[in-house]
Amino acid sequence: MKGFFITFEGGEGAGKSTQIEKTKSYLESKGRKVITIREPGSTPIAEDIRNLLKSVRSDDRMCDTAELLLMYAARAQLVNTLIKPKLEEGFDILCDRHDLSTIAYQGGGRMMNMEDINAIRNVVLKSFRPDLTVLIDVPPKVGMARARNRGELDRFEISNADFFERVDKAYHDYAKNHPETVAVVDGTLSVQEVSEQIIKNIQERLDV
Ligand SMILES: Nc1ncnc2c1ncn2[C@@H]1O[C@H](COP(=O)(O)OP(=O)(O)O)[C@@H](O)[C@H]1O
Ligand SMILES: [Mg+2]
Repeated sequence: MKGFFITFEGGEGAGKSTQIEKTKSYLESKGRKVITIREPGSTPIAEDIRNLLKSVRSDDRMCDTAELLLMYAARAQLVNTLIKPKLEEGFDILCDRHDLSTIAYQGGGRMMNMEDINAIRNVVLKSFRPDLTVLIDVPPKVGMARARNRGELDRFEISNADFFERVDKAYHDYAKNHPETVAVVDGTLSVQEVSEQIIKNIQERLDV
Protein backbone atom coordinates (compact mmCIF):
# COMPACT_ATOMS: atom_id res chain seq x y z
CA MET A 1 0.00 0.00 0.00
CA LYS A 2 1.23 3.49 -0.84
CA GLY A 3 2.41 5.75 1.98
CA PHE A 4 1.25 9.27 2.71
CA PHE A 5 3.18 12.33 1.57
CA ILE A 6 2.76 15.04 4.22
CA THR A 7 4.53 18.39 3.89
CA PHE A 8 5.18 20.95 6.63
CA GLU A 9 5.17 24.63 5.76
CA GLY A 10 5.50 27.96 7.54
CA GLY A 11 7.99 30.73 8.06
CA GLU A 12 11.37 30.52 9.74
CA GLY A 13 11.01 29.34 13.34
CA ALA A 14 7.36 28.31 12.93
CA GLY A 15 8.12 24.92 14.47
CA LYS A 16 8.32 22.70 11.39
CA SER A 17 11.34 20.64 12.51
CA THR A 18 9.90 20.29 16.02
CA GLN A 19 6.51 19.09 14.75
CA ILE A 20 7.92 16.74 12.12
CA GLU A 21 9.59 14.77 14.93
CA LYS A 22 6.34 14.72 16.94
CA THR A 23 4.34 13.57 13.92
CA LYS A 24 6.90 10.88 13.12
CA SER A 25 6.54 9.47 16.65
CA TYR A 26 2.76 9.46 16.33
CA LEU A 27 2.74 7.67 12.97
CA GLU A 28 5.32 5.13 14.16
CA SER A 29 3.13 4.43 17.20
CA LYS A 30 0.46 3.42 14.66
CA GLY A 31 2.91 0.90 13.19
CA ARG A 32 3.70 2.98 10.11
CA LYS A 33 7.15 3.30 8.49
CA VAL A 34 8.20 6.95 8.32
CA ILE A 35 10.93 8.85 6.48
CA THR A 36 11.67 12.50 7.32
CA ILE A 37 13.28 14.77 4.74
CA ARG A 38 13.72 18.47 3.99
CA GLU A 39 13.64 20.77 0.96
CA PRO A 40 15.75 21.83 -0.68
CA GLY A 41 17.95 18.79 -0.04
CA SER A 42 17.80 15.21 1.23
CA THR A 43 19.69 13.55 -1.62
CA PRO A 44 23.44 14.14 -2.15
CA ILE A 45 22.85 16.22 -5.30
CA ALA A 46 19.92 18.13 -3.77
CA GLU A 47 22.00 18.89 -0.64
CA ASP A 48 24.71 20.40 -2.88
CA ILE A 49 22.03 22.58 -4.47
CA ARG A 50 20.80 23.51 -0.97
CA ASN A 51 24.27 24.78 -0.08
CA LEU A 52 24.30 26.92 -3.22
CA LEU A 53 20.87 28.32 -2.36
CA LYS A 54 21.55 29.04 1.31
CA SER A 55 25.05 30.42 1.32
CA VAL A 56 25.57 34.15 1.64
CA ARG A 57 28.51 35.08 -0.63
CA SER A 58 30.07 38.42 -1.41
CA ASP A 59 31.48 37.58 -4.87
CA ASP A 60 28.18 37.00 -6.70
CA ARG A 61 24.51 37.71 -6.08
CA MET A 62 22.09 34.95 -7.04
CA CYS A 63 19.37 36.28 -9.34
CA ASP A 64 15.74 35.36 -8.66
CA THR A 65 15.43 33.18 -11.77
CA ALA A 66 18.49 31.12 -10.82
CA GLU A 67 17.05 30.73 -7.32
CA LEU A 68 13.70 29.53 -8.66
CA LEU A 69 15.26 27.04 -11.08
CA LEU A 70 17.67 25.67 -8.46
CA MET A 71 14.73 25.14 -6.07
CA TYR A 72 12.97 23.13 -8.75
CA ALA A 73 16.15 21.28 -9.75
CA ALA A 74 16.56 20.10 -6.14
CA ARG A 75 12.84 19.24 -5.98
CA ALA A 76 12.96 17.24 -9.22
CA GLN A 77 15.92 15.23 -7.93
CA LEU A 78 14.24 14.53 -4.58
CA VAL A 79 10.78 13.68 -5.92
CA ASN A 80 12.04 11.40 -8.67
CA THR A 81 14.83 9.56 -6.87
CA LEU A 82 13.47 9.34 -3.32
CA ILE A 83 9.91 10.51 -2.62
CA LYS A 84 8.03 8.64 -5.34
CA PRO A 85 9.92 5.32 -4.96
CA LYS A 86 9.63 5.36 -1.14
CA LEU A 87 5.90 6.16 -1.23
CA GLU A 88 5.47 3.16 -3.54
CA GLU A 89 7.35 1.01 -1.01
CA GLY A 90 4.77 2.06 1.60
CA PHE A 91 6.75 4.61 3.59
CA ASP A 92 5.05 7.75 4.86
CA ILE A 93 7.17 10.77 4.00
CA LEU A 94 7.22 13.88 6.18
CA CYS A 95 8.85 16.72 4.26
CA ASP A 96 10.12 19.97 5.79
CA ARG A 97 9.01 22.45 3.08
CA HIS A 98 7.91 21.55 -0.46
CA ASP A 99 6.23 23.26 -3.39
CA LEU A 100 4.12 25.65 -1.29
CA SER A 101 7.38 27.22 -0.08
CA THR A 102 8.11 28.23 -3.69
CA ILE A 103 4.69 29.85 -3.98
CA ALA A 104 5.29 31.69 -0.69
CA TYR A 105 8.99 32.65 -1.04
CA GLN A 106 9.66 33.03 -4.76
CA GLY A 107 6.07 34.02 -5.59
CA GLY A 108 5.15 36.06 -2.50
CA GLY A 109 8.52 37.06 -1.07
CA ARG A 110 10.42 37.68 -4.32
CA MET A 111 7.26 38.71 -6.20
CA MET A 112 8.07 36.49 -9.19
CA ASN A 113 5.41 35.94 -11.85
CA MET A 114 3.09 33.14 -10.69
CA GLU A 115 2.30 32.03 -14.25
CA ASP A 116 6.01 31.42 -14.84
CA ILE A 117 6.25 29.49 -11.56
CA ASN A 118 3.19 27.44 -12.47
CA ALA A 119 4.69 26.60 -15.86
CA ILE A 120 7.89 25.29 -14.27
CA ARG A 121 5.90 23.33 -11.68
CA ASN A 122 4.02 21.63 -14.50
CA VAL A 123 7.32 20.52 -16.05
CA VAL A 124 8.81 19.29 -12.77
CA LEU A 125 5.89 17.87 -10.80
CA LYS A 126 3.09 17.41 -13.35
CA SER A 127 0.13 16.36 -11.19
CA PHE A 128 2.20 15.12 -8.21
CA ARG A 129 0.96 16.78 -4.97
CA PRO A 130 1.15 16.10 -1.21
CA ASP A 131 -1.69 14.16 0.42
CA LEU A 132 -1.72 16.81 3.15
CA THR A 133 0.12 20.07 3.78
CA VAL A 134 0.39 21.28 7.38
CA LEU A 135 0.83 25.05 7.50
CA ILE A 136 2.16 26.10 10.92
CA ASP A 137 0.95 29.65 11.35
CA VAL A 138 2.99 32.09 13.43
CA PRO A 139 3.34 35.86 12.94
CA PRO A 140 6.61 36.46 11.02
CA LYS A 141 8.06 38.47 13.93
CA VAL A 142 7.53 35.60 16.39
CA GLY A 143 9.08 33.07 14.01
CA MET A 144 12.11 35.22 13.24
CA ALA A 145 12.73 35.83 16.95
CA ARG A 146 12.73 32.05 17.49
CA ALA A 147 14.94 31.43 14.45
CA ARG A 148 17.49 34.06 15.46
CA ASN A 149 18.25 32.03 18.59
CA ARG A 150 19.59 29.28 16.30
CA GLY A 151 22.65 31.32 15.30
CA GLU A 152 23.98 32.42 11.92
CA LEU A 153 21.33 33.47 9.36
CA ASP A 154 21.22 32.05 5.81
CA ARG A 155 20.52 33.90 2.54
CA PHE A 156 16.74 33.79 3.11
CA GLU A 157 16.81 34.56 6.81
CA ILE A 158 18.64 37.86 6.20
CA SER A 159 15.63 39.20 4.23
CA ASN A 160 13.74 42.23 5.55
CA ALA A 161 10.41 42.31 7.41
CA ASP A 162 8.42 43.24 4.26
CA PHE A 163 9.70 40.09 2.55
CA PHE A 164 8.44 37.90 5.40
CA GLU A 165 5.08 39.70 5.47
CA ARG A 166 4.64 38.88 1.77
CA VAL A 167 5.64 35.25 2.41
CA ASP A 168 3.07 35.06 5.20
CA LYS A 169 0.33 36.55 3.02
CA ALA A 170 1.07 34.14 0.15
CA TYR A 171 0.85 31.19 2.57
CA HIS A 172 -2.52 32.38 3.87
CA ASP A 173 -3.93 33.12 0.42
CA TYR A 174 -3.00 29.63 -0.78
CA ALA A 175 -4.42 27.95 2.34
CA LYS A 176 -7.70 29.86 1.99
CA ASN A 177 -8.03 28.66 -1.62
CA HIS A 178 -7.08 25.03 -0.87
CA PRO A 179 -8.85 24.08 2.39
CA GLU A 180 -9.18 20.45 1.33
CA THR A 181 -5.40 19.81 1.19
CA VAL A 182 -3.93 22.46 3.53
CA ALA A 183 -4.46 22.27 7.30
CA VAL A 184 -3.61 25.53 9.08
CA VAL A 185 -2.56 25.07 12.71
CA ASP A 186 -1.89 27.83 15.25
CA GLY A 187 1.86 27.72 15.82
CA THR A 188 1.79 30.16 18.74
CA LEU A 189 0.37 27.46 21.03
CA SER A 190 2.63 25.15 23.05
CA VAL A 191 4.59 22.44 21.23
CA GLN A 192 2.21 19.83 22.67
CA GLU A 193 -0.93 21.73 21.65
CA VAL A 194 0.35 22.29 18.11
CA SER A 195 1.15 18.59 17.86
CA GLU A 196 -2.38 17.67 18.99
CA GLN A 197 -3.85 19.91 16.27
CA ILE A 198 -1.66 18.30 13.62
CA ILE A 199 -2.54 14.76 14.72
CA LYS A 200 -6.25 15.64 14.77
CA ASN A 201 -5.98 16.89 11.17
CA ILE A 202 -4.14 13.74 10.11
CA GLN A 203 -6.76 11.53 11.74
CA GLU A 204 -9.62 13.45 10.12
CA ARG A 205 -8.11 13.74 6.66
CA LEU A 206 -6.02 10.60 6.11
CA ASP A 207 -6.80 6.93 6.66
CA VAL A 208 -3.99 6.18 9.18
N1 LIG B 1 5.11 25.87 19.82
C1 LIG B 1 6.29 26.42 20.16
N2 LIG B 1 6.36 27.34 21.14
C2 LIG B 1 7.54 27.92 21.46
N3 LIG B 1 8.73 27.63 20.90
C3 LIG B 1 8.73 26.70 19.91
C4 LIG B 1 7.52 26.06 19.49
N4 LIG B 1 7.83 25.19 18.48
C5 LIG B 1 9.16 25.30 18.29
N5 LIG B 1 9.72 26.20 19.14
C6 LIG B 1 11.13 26.61 19.22
O1 LIG B 1 11.35 27.58 18.21
C7 LIG B 1 12.58 27.34 17.55
C8 LIG B 1 12.32 27.06 16.07
O2 LIG B 1 11.63 25.82 15.94
P1 LIG B 1 11.89 24.87 14.69
O3 LIG B 1 11.10 23.62 14.89
O4 LIG B 1 13.36 24.74 14.46
O5 LIG B 1 11.22 25.77 13.55
P2 LIG B 1 11.38 25.65 11.96
O6 LIG B 1 11.88 24.28 11.66
O7 LIG B 1 9.99 25.90 11.46
O8 LIG B 1 12.30 26.74 11.54
C9 LIG B 1 13.24 26.17 18.27
O9 LIG B 1 14.13 26.69 19.22
C10 LIG B 1 12.08 25.46 18.93
O10 LIG B 1 12.45 24.79 20.09
MG1 LIG C 1 13.56 23.64 10.66
